[in-house]
Amino acid sequence: MTRLAGKTALITGAARGIGLAFAKAYLAQGARVALADIDIARAKACATDLGQNAMAVELDVTRQDSIDRGVAETTQTLGQIDILINNAAIFTAAPITEITRDDYQRVFDINVSGALFTMQAVAKHMIDRGAGGKIINMASQAGRRGEPLVAVYCASKAAVISLTQSAGLNLIKYGINVNAIAPGVVDGEHWDSVDAFFAKYENKAPGQKKREVGAAVPYGRMGRAEDLTGMAVFLASDEADYIVAQTYNVDGGNWMS
Ligand SMILES: NC(=O)c1ccc[n+]([C@@H]2O[C@H](COP(=O)([O-])OP(=O)(O)OC[C@H]3O[C@@H](n4cnc5c(N)ncnc54)[C@H](O)[C@@H]3O)[C@@H](O)[C@H]2O)c1
Repeated sequence: MTRLAGKTALITGAARGIGLAFAKAYLAQGARVALADIDIARAKACATDLGQNAMAVELDVTRQDSIDRGVAETTQTLGQIDILINNAAIFTAAPITEITRDDYQRVFDINVSGALFTMQAVAKHMIDRGAGGKIINMASQAGRRGEPLVAVYCASKAAVISLTQSAGLNLIKYGINVNAIAPGVVDGEHWDSVDAFFAKYENKAPGQKKREVGAAVPYGRMGRAEDLTGMAVFLASDEADYIVAQTYNVDGGNWMS
C-alpha cells in the first residue's frame, strides 16, 4: 500500500506505544518517518529495527531549542516535513486536594505547550515550503469530560482539542489540515502507569482497573495501538484534504460527539 508514498512524517513520542505503531503504519504506506522522542536510545533502537526509511531524532517537546533542532535535523535528513503527529504526552492522576503545582506544570508543559510549539515550528516550515501539510494532534476521551481523579490530564487533553480547532481554522489557508484523534483506553506502557495510579487511589489490585475499563468499552475490549493507525493514515492522506479542525473518537464506542 502506498497511500503516503513520497511523504515524510515527524512523530513525537514515537519510541513506544501508539507513536511507534503510527511510525510502522506510515512506513508501510510508503512514507519516510522521523521517530522523535526524549528517550533517544529507545527511538534509535526502534528506527534501526524499522529500516532505512526510519530515523531517530532527539526531541524534548518542553524545550524550544530541542524542538527547533529536531525539526531542522528532520528537514535536513528527509528534505521536508509533510506530516506531523503531536503524540508525546504524559499521564497523571490525583484527587483535587492533592494536585501539586509541579505536576500540573509538567503535564501542561508536555501535553499542551509541547503540542502547541511543536505544531508552530512545523507549521512555519510547511508555510515556508508552500506545499501544505497535515498535522494530527493526539487528544483523548479524557478531553471530552472531566474525571474525578484525572483533572490535570483531562484539562490538558481538552486544551489539545481546543488548540486543534484554533490551529485548524488558522492554518487551512496555507493548505495545512490540523485535526486530532481521541483514543479511549489503549493497552500498553502508558496504561500500566494509569493502572498503578488507580491501584493507589481506588485501592484496586494491579490490573483490576484495566480489566474494568476494557469490559466497559462497547466494542468489548481495551484498544490496541494498531486500532488507531487507520485513522492516522487517513488523516495524513490526500483523502482528508477537506477535513479541518476536527477531533475524531477512535475508542470502541466509549464516547459520542
Ligand atoms: N494509551 C491510552 O490509553 C491513550 C488514551 C488516550 C490518549 N492517548 C494519547 O496518545 C498518545 C500516545 O500515548 P501512548 O499510550 O503511546 O503513551 P506512552 O506513554 O506509551 O508514550 C509516550 C511517549 O512520549 C515520550 N515523551 C514523554 N515526554 C516527552 C517529551 N518531553 N518530549 C518528547 N517525547 C516525550 C515518551 O518517552 C514515550 O515514548 C499520548 O498523547 C496520549 O495522551 C493515549
